[in-house]
Amino acid sequence: MAKFVPVEPFNLVIFGGTGDLSRRKLLPALFHRYLDDQIRGDTRIIATARSEMSDEDFVEMAREACRASTSDDLWTDDAWSYFSEMLSYAPLDIAAPPEEWNNLADKVGKSDHTVIYYLATSPSLYVKTCGGLEAAGMVNENCRVVLEKPIGHDLSSAQEINDGVCAIFNEDQIYRIDHYLGKEAVQNLMVLRFSNSLFEPLWSRNHIDHIQITVSENLGLEGRAGYYDGSGALRDMVQNHLLQLLCLIAMEPPNSMDADDIRTEKIKVLRALKPVDHTSANRNTVRGQYEEGVVGGKMVRGYTDELGADDSNTETFVALKAEIENWRWAGVPLYLRTGKRMSRRSSEVMIQFKPVAHSIFTTPRNEPNRLVIKLQPDEGVRLFLHIKEPGPGGLQIKSLPLNLSYADNFTVRYPDAYERLLMEVARGNLALFMRRDEVEAAWRWVDGIIEAWQALDSKPERYSAGTDGPLSAAMMLDRDGRVWHKPVTS
Ligand code: BG6
Repeated sequence: MAKFVPVEPFNLVIFGGTGDLSRRKLLPALFHRYLDDQIRGDTRIIATARSEMSDEDFVEMAREACRASTSDDLWTDDAWSYFSEMLSYAPLDIAAPPEEWNNLADKVGKSDHTVIYYLATSPSLYVKTCGGLEAAGMVNENCRVVLEKPIGHDLSSAQEINDGVCAIFNEDQIYRIDHYLGKEAVQNLMVLRFSNSLFEPLWSRNHIDHIQITVSENLGLEGRAGYYDGSGALRDMVQNHLLQLLCLIAMEPPNSMDADDIRTEKIKVLRALKPVDHTSANRNTVRGQYEEGVVGGKMVRGYTDELGADDSNTETFVALKAEIENWRWAGVPLYLRTGKRMSRRSSEVMIQFKPVAHSIFTTPRNEPNRLVIKLQPDEGVRLFLHIKEPGPGGLQIKSLPLNLSYADNFTVRYPDAYERLLMEVARGNLALFMRRDEVEAAWRWVDGIIEAWQALDSKPERYSAGTDGPLSAAMMLDRDGRVWHKPVTS
């Protein structure tokens, strides 16, 4: 049974408190942490947004949101009624003068609790919100601020946000969220690498042929057309989630679990990424956009149709070949791929080892060893080894996995990434959050790709919804004599 260590009471202000993130993720995450006794009764959760709403109306909205995200066996009206006493609402236009922040300031109160400001708003409001907090006298050394991704849409806008926020909060008060870092299986990447002695001697160009990171989704725009069309898969997924996964796979062992030890190793990986220029963009990147097709047995609309536009140059799929220019990884390609409306929801990291130096077996089936880390769904780790097929005939070799499935080994409920991340903010542990230099290094690399696409006047290649993306993605690997790994199913 997992043990939950209670966190000290805190006061949390959610800007954008009635928005989608707050309703779908933050409030349910807090409620679940309350159900596990991790949050104590004298914690305060104050939502703020522009619309006028009474505390009662907000509590009712929060109840609906939490009920929808809580299974019947965990929900009780009693628990809800205790939890709801922590909730309140303060309407606020963040452009309002300092005196109009008094209502919010009064609700936050003057206790010695840590005060957390969670900015679940558009990034264009981050600096303004921090400025408003400062002008209202609501910033001191007891405060922390949480910034949701995306932090900017390119390097210069990210720097502008970072400059603005860092002028008011110290770096160690700023928690930049990448929710992938809160996922159980993503955290397990570090445990797998750094608490098993087995892998480290093999973890380099000497034994690894190549690495694939796939995050495929079967969903489409989900009502986020406005944001998504201005962003695309590269900015929305690669700049943050996929590059963070790449860092955890490729970084050197950190000296400790201390936040800066980990973040210092991650930034070294980002800085060693070989820049993509116009010539390499042609060979090493693929952009795609989905057309109508069948996903999960249902016909779905194409991207532009869903968007309600005649045309769009935004990619809903991207595949890349990345190279890390350092001693450990020189010559080992890392293929990244992510897309919407693909055949299935599946996120995996696949490490393919080099084949044996000389095969003494004549059997044609001799696939190299693979380590597959399944991030979602069906979290687990599979190590594909060769064994002899039983039987008296000719010697037949089969590749079969040693299967370490989470579901088979743990019967606990897996907390949503936001549950862990919110508790880490309350504890003041920055290890699962991105430092300023990481965010900016990731943008620097991604900006190079965007510039190359612009110079090439590249257009996304169409793929049918419900498939594994455009043909060019398969061809990119084929040129290197490789194929995309097929997701493993249980
Ligand atoms: C978000 C992206 O950061 O991650 C979304 O903005 C994407 O477009 C989502 O759907 C995927 O997260 P998860 O946890 O469902 O894999």
